[in-house]
Amino acid sequence: MIIFITMIKVDLKGCSSFIKEVEYDAFVSRALEAWDVLDSEKGAGNDFLGWKTLPVDVDDKLIAEMEAVRDDWKARGVELVIVIGIGGSYLGARCAVEALSHAFLRPEGAPQVVFAGNNLSEEYIAELMDLAAVRNTACVVISKSGTTTEPAVAFRIFKEMLEQRYGKKEASERIVAITDAARGALKTLSTQEGYRTFVVPDNVGGRFSVLTPVGLLPIALAGFDIRAMLSGAAEERKALLERSESNAAIQYAAMRNLLHENYGKAVEILVTYNPKFSWLAEWWKQLYGESEGKDGKGIFPASVTNTADLHSMGQFIQEGSRIMFETVINIENAGRSVVIGSDAQNLDGLNFLAGQHVEHCNAMARLGVKVAHIDGGVPQMEVALERIDERNLGAIFYFFEFACGISAYVLGVNPFNQPGVEAYKKNMFALLRKPGYEAETQKLLKRI
Ligand code: PA5
Repeated sequence: MIIFITMIKVDLKGCSSFIKEVEYDAFVSRALEAWDVLDSEKGAGNDFLGWKTLPVDVDDKLIAEMEAVRDDWKARGVELVIVIGIGGSYLGARCAVEALSHAFLRPEGAPQVVFAGNNLSEEYIAELMDLAAVRNTACVVISKSGTTTEPAVAFRIFKEMLEQRYGKKEASERIVAITDAARGALKTLSTQEGYRTFVVPDNVGGRFSVLTPVGLLPIALAGFDIRAMLSGAAEERKALLERSESNAAIQYAAMRNLLHENYGKAVEILVTYNPKFSWLAEWWKQLYGESEGKDGKGIFPASVTNTADLHSMGQFIQEGSRIMFETVINIENAGRSVVIGSDAQNLDGLNFLAGQHVEHCNAMARLGVKVAHIDGGVPQMEVALERIDERNLGAIFYFFEFACGISAYVLGVNPFNQPGVEAYKKNMFALLRKPGYEAETQKLLKRI
């Protein structure tokens, strides 16, 4: 038997003082059964399992088509790409772009990639229009259904802006749509206007779509290597396809369900010590929140970025209601090197750190917090990756998706639907006086 070494490693030692081994073994058995359900594709939501094979399904032709858009827009001198989408239609791309980009400098040789259509703030759109007005601009609009209000509003505005500035024909070459193969308003519009389009596969839900063009095109446009991302995901997939109790996804799914079910832990906090990963937490929150939070069940996914949040949320986590456990993302190698200098006067008293890397202080903060939080009653898991790069990001995307499928089956819910997301939409349409919602409008007006 070939054993594949997983790129993503899970360390459960920080939970061991809270649980009994025999309980963990029982949850591993349940996670292995859930692995079987996912593997046999016989579980709830099994028409949405296309994400499982994406790392090997995305072929050279599709990658070349995405790279052709990148090269075409480069030739047109595009400096700003506005990516319009919400939820699963933007969080994966945003996570990768934020993680891989320089935190402060604008990219060289690649356009700046910014995001819209993920809120209805007039100020946000107006300020983005200010930027687009002074930059050579193009736009990617992403909506699987093709009918979601937030991106549709933003697209109407930026489409008009591009058409006024470049004329209808040139504008149509600066717009790419990513949507359903056949249905929806965005598909109809794209066909009529002659936009280049990419397809969101029918069997891939929004929050599992980062390794389709939904995530890959914006990531490629931002100048990053999507081939490396897919190969990292493929490598992780091979490891997770091994049915074993040392499978990292089994371990993670088993422990989080054990802490929830037997110890009443209702909140999982994803902790990162690198602000570049704050958006990984946003992507993860949607993945787990929408997949598990239904039928009155689920672990509420929260996040903190340390050490900043030790000075805001630290007090609660240390001493507040004991409702949470933590999953700490541990990045083994820092991308840069900065050494703290010595100071002759030592007025700040920091000479004891002279010669140390800043990341060493970060690691000591992480270990200090680990012990303090465990002492304070907060179990801690660690999910480790080697470094922040395309390959490791591909691996961690795939790891969390796969573990989410297993975990939700252990919990006993369908991981792949999101019926609750519709509730607010009906009310919003009624309040906006959308034709057909008149009766609802009257009922709502009496309640608000
Ligand atoms: O995960 C999901 O299914 C959702 O978050 C959707 O991605 C989000 O609602 C956007 O939907 P659409 O891509 O249809 O505009």
